[in-house]
Amino acid sequence: MSNRAFKHKQWVAVAMVLAIFFLTTMQTATASEKEAEQIIKNQCAACHKFEGKPESKFNLKGPDLMWAGNKYQRPWLLRWLQGKEENLYPKGYRWDLSQTPAKHSVLSPAQANAVADYFEKHFLDSRVGKSPVDMSTFNEMEAQLGADIFKKFSCLGCHQIKEDDKKIGGPISINLYDAGNRYNLDWWSRFAANPQDFTPHSGEYLADLSPLGARYIIGYLMTLGVEDFKFFEPWKTAPFQKANAKRGANVYREYCVQCHGIQGRGDGPGASGLDPKPAVHAELPLSDYPEDYLYNIIFYGGKNNGKSPNMPDWGLTIPTQDMADLIAYLRATFKGE
Ligand code: HEC
Ligand code: HEC
Ligand code: HEC
Repeated sequence: MSNRAFKHKQWVAVAMVLAIFFLTTMQTATASEKEAEQIIKNQCAACHKFEGKPESKFNLKGPDLMWAGNKYQRPWLLRWLQGKEENLYPKGYRWDLSQTPAKHSVLSPAQANAVADYFEKHFLDSRVGKSPVDMSTFNEMEAQLGADIFKKFSCLGCHQIKEDDKKIGGPISINLYDAGNRYNLDWWSRFAANPQDFTPHSGEYLADLSPLGARYIIGYLMTLGVEDFKFFEPWKTAPFQKANAKRGANVYREYCVQCHGIQGRGDGPGASGLDPKPAVHAELPLSDYPEDYLYNIIFYGGKNNGKSPNMPDWGLTIPTQDMADLIAYLRATFKGE
C-alpha cells in the first residue's frame, strides 16, 4: 500500500468516526426532545395549558404555560420540576376547590433538563421583549421605593413576602418572597405592563403607576430572595471620582441657595414660608455624612428620606456629573464649624 493510499484510508476512518459521533449525539438530542414532548403530553397537559388563550384560573387546574420558555430562570425551573421547591400557592392554586397545596409531580434531573430545553425551544411568547429595567443600575433606594409601592398598591394584600425571615401578607395568590430567583426579568416586566394578558384574574393594580414607579416595583421583585443582591452604588462611579467642588459651587448657586442661602445658613429668600426651615448647611458636618445619605436626600428628596417634602428631589433635574460636583462642594465647604 502506498503511503498516499494509507493516508487516504486514515482520513476516511477519522471522517467516519466523526460522522458516527455527530449522528449519535444528534439522535440523543432528538430522543430527549421526543421524550420531553411525551412527558408534557402524558404527564403535564392534563393540568397545564401549553397553547391557546389565557383563561380565568377558575377554568384551569394549573397555571398556563404557553410562555413557560420565557417565564422562569432555568435553575429555578429545574429545581421546581425535581420537587426541590416549596409550594407556590399557600392556599392551593384552586383555593375554591381545596385549600391545601397539593404535592406537584416530580421529574428526574435528565427529564427536567429535557423539559426545560423543550420549554425554551417551543413555548416562547413573542410579546415578551427586552425589559426596560437594567438591574445593573438598580440601587438600594429604588428597592426601598419598590417595597413602599408593594404595600401602597395592595400587592401585600394577596402576595406573601418575607420580613425578617417571617412570611407576611395575604396567601390568596402566588408567594413572591423568592421572585428574584424564579422569574425572568423580561417576562415579569411584560407581565407587569398588563397582567390581564397572562392571567385574566390578576387585576390591574399597577395601571396608574409612573414609568419610574414601574421600574422600582419591577426591580424590587427581582431582588426578593436573592442573597447578597449587588446594588448599584452611583457614588462609586467615574463622575464621582472626578468630581470638582469648584464646579459644584455653581450648581449649589443655581438650585440650592434659593432656600438654603448663599452661605448655607438656611436663610435664602425661599425659606421664609417653610416649616421646618431648610437645613442650615453651615452648621452641619456634611463632610462626614455617609456618601449614600447625601446622594439619596438630594436625588430622592425629603419625602423619600423621612424629612420634609419641601426639600425637593433633584434626581430628574441635575445631571450625574453636576450631582457629583455638588456633593463634592457640600463636603468641602460644610464641616460643621
Ligand atoms: C395534577 C395537576 C398537575 C400536573 C399533572 C402538573 N402540574 Fe404543574 N402545577 C400544577 C399546580 C396546581 C401548580 C401550582 C403549584 C403550587 O401551588 O405550588 C403547578 C405549577 C407548575 C409550574 C410553576 C407555574 C407557575 O408559573 O406558577 C410549572 C413550571 C409546572 N407546574 C410544570 C409542570 C410540568 C412540566 C408538569 C409535567 C411534568 C406538570 N407541571 C404537571 C398542577 C399540575
Ligand atoms: C386582589 C389580589 C391581588 C393583588 C392586590 C395583586 N395581585 Fe398579583 N396576582 C393575583 C392573581 C390572582 C394572580 C394570578 C395568579 C393566580 O392565579 O393567583 C397574580 C399574579 C401576579 C404575578 C405573576 C405570578 C405568576 O407566577 O404567574 C405577579 C408577579 C404579581 N401578581 C405581582 C403583583 C404585584 C407587584 C402587585 C401589586 C402592584 C399585585 N400582584 C397585586 C392577585 C393579586
Ligand atoms: C424649596 C426649598 C429647598 C430647596 C430649593 C433645596 N432644599 Fe434642601 N432642604 C429644604 C428643607 C425644608 C430641608 C429640611 C427638611 C427637614 O428638616 O425635614 C432641607 C434639607 C436638606 C438637607 C438635609 C440635611 C440633613 O441634616 O439631613 C440637605 C443635605 C439639603 N437639603 C441639600 C440641598 C441641596 C444640595 C439643594 C440643591 C440641589 C437643596 N437642598 C435645595 C429645602 C430646600
